[in-house]
Amino acid sequence: MKEKLEEIASKAKEEMEKIQNLQELQDLKIKLLGKKSELSNMLKGLGELSAEERPKVGNMVNQVRKEIEESMAKAEEKMKAASLNQKLEKEKIDITMPSTKIKRGSKHPINRVIEDIQDLFVSMGYDVVDGPELETDEFCFERLNLPAGHPARDMQDSFYITNEYLLRTQTSAVQARTMLANTEKSPIRMVCTGKTYRREDDATHSHQFNQVEGLVIDKKELNVSLADLKGTLEVFVKKMIGANSELRFRPSYFPFTEPSYEVDVTCFKCGGKGCPLCKKTGWIEVLGAGMVHPNVLEMNGYDPNEYAGFAFGTGIDRLAMFRYGITDMRYLYTNDVKFLSQFDRKDEE
Ligand code: DAH
Repeated sequence: MKEKLEEIASKAKEEMEKIQNLQELQDLKIKLLGKKSELSNMLKGLGELSAEERPKVGNMVNQVRKEIEESMAKAEEKMKAASLNQKLEKEKIDITMPSTKIKRGSKHPINRVIEDIQDLFVSMGYDVVDGPELETDEFCFERLNLPAGHPARDMQDSFYITNEYLLRTQTSAVQARTMLANTEKSPIRMVCTGKTYRREDDATHSHQFNQVEGLVIDKKELNVSLADLKGTLEVFVKKMIGANSELRFRPSYFPFTEPSYEVDVTCFKCGGKGCPLCKKTGWIEVLGAGMVHPNVLEMNGYDPNEYAGFAFGTGIDRLAMFRYGITDMRYLYTNDVKFLSQFDRKDEE
């Protein structure tokens, strides 16, 4: 019995030395210690031995089993450490290698202009306000002195959703909202930028575009005159388009302002000499503006005898085109990365 155990132990030792990997170790474990192993069979056969011999042999079998188990555990640990080392060696990172390039996004030219407009007006004490794109007929037209059937509604082909709701055709809708929301009827200085929609069906217009609206209301005896409007727009245009821009006010008509003006700026391309872009006039129309119509003040809770105001509005997409010399509006909406990524550089110039 003793010889047999010694033989098992020495055979086990031999086989252990041949082991190459963890799988082989696992297989050997089953062979030497599993249910069908010689050691297990010996334990099963203990019952046939005399009461005297049984504990002795039992002890010896367990001793051999323990030795095999211990040396296997050691071998396993060694192999695991070796394979970890191998893995670490293989996955070593060379921190001196150049890294892979991460593509950086850049701000869209329209958003650049929007942020600059907001910054400029905030620096002049204006609030930046917001309004809904799904607007009611009441705020988009009625409260701006454009009742149903008013011919000026034809200038703005609208996307009506129901009889009452439409996609706003102009950010001017926010004028009425701001006046009405201001229950104290205190002075107002606001700008609002945002998306506007019109049912345009020619190739040079987009059905969706961006506008900025400005509104100033204060006590009549304070400075809310045409001169203030002119000064404000001069600062605005020079900052947005170019410091050399000149402004020209042309009488025009908007239902919500009286008097109303269209404001032209010297052509940024030819500097006013005349070129194909400005149709040889030297001027490009940029803004609509005027003094807030007394009806608009009254309809939105401001007494026109006590208060006066000016308002202005313009398309942001066109401003971006002027500023960056973009010749085709479609570039602004096709999101070509090559096109969009040049504006970081342009703004640094
Ligand atoms: N809402 C006008 C448009 O979309 C632009 C405009 C003109 C806004 C005159 C104004 C204004 O605030 O006073 O064409």
